[in-house]
Amino acid sequence: MSEDSSVISLFDNSVFLIDNPKNPARKILATKNLTPGHSFYGETLVVNKFQGQRVEFRSWDPFRSKLSAAILNRLKSFPFTPGAHCLYLGASTGTTVSHLSDIVGTEGRIFAVELASRVARELLENVVKYRKNVIPIIADAKHPEKYTTIYGGVGAVYCDVAQPDQTEIAIENCRMYFDKNNPGQLFLVVKASSIDSLKSKKLVFSDQVEILERAGYQVLEQIDLEPYDKNHAMLIASPMN
Ligand SMILES: C[S@@+](CC[C@H](N)C(=O)[O-])C[C@H]1O[C@@H](n2cnc3c(N)ncnc32)[C@H](O)[C@@H]1O
Repeated sequence: MSEDSSVISLFDNSVFLIDNPKNPARKILATKNLTPGHSFYGETLVVNKFQGQRVEFRSWDPFRSKLSAAILNRLKSFPFTPGAHCLYLGASTGTTVSHLSDIVGTEGRIFAVELASRVARELLENVVKYRKNVIPIIADAKHPEKYTTIYGGVGAVYCDVAQPDQTEIAIENCRMYFDKNNPGQLFLVVKASSIDSLKSKKLVFSDQVEILERAGYQVLEQIDLEPYDKNHAMLIASPMN
């Protein structure tokens, strides 16, 4: 972590905590805007000095993005480095995708999979049109063999499809697309009620850990997303060999 007066950098200058003029006690999580002047979902643009330069940041709302909530809840793993290739399942209209696009930068790629055509249209219009590093894949994440535009392996798979079998979907996508020589990390967003609305949240989360372990994964972190989100947890796992 390095500091430059009002800006604190996290994960090697990938994500930032910046001063909040309206509430000095609570800093704003943000990414460097890859497309200055352009916001995507009503997020605030803040210009601040960082390492001697004027930088435009985009605020990253933890109530709208579970990855932002996980970072504020002390996430440690962060494979989303500049130049990284990531497979993102359940891109929706691109809220979180747009911040990952900021982070991986022009040399990186976010392969963004979305099934619902209406939502995918918004992703194309609002995000893909402005950001060359987001490659849209309008497809069902249950059939990763049908994606045609992924080249090379990816260093991270982010899965937020809110489906009962999402852990199995995520594992199959990792099997197909992780870099074989250098397997990456799986970020699995678990929505307890989508998996089993009758079981307690705690039990649903531990069931998913068991499925991952049976598939040969080591669970590195389990992050509860409260107070930003009451019903989700984030599991970070990587293959054991
Ligand atoms: C909870 S939303 C994702 C929110 C998004 N990750 C974000 O943070 O901005 C879940 C998305 O997954 C998509 N989805 C559900 N099942 C899917 C599948 N089998 N393949 C691809 N996308 C799917 C839904 O259409 C929806 O847009």
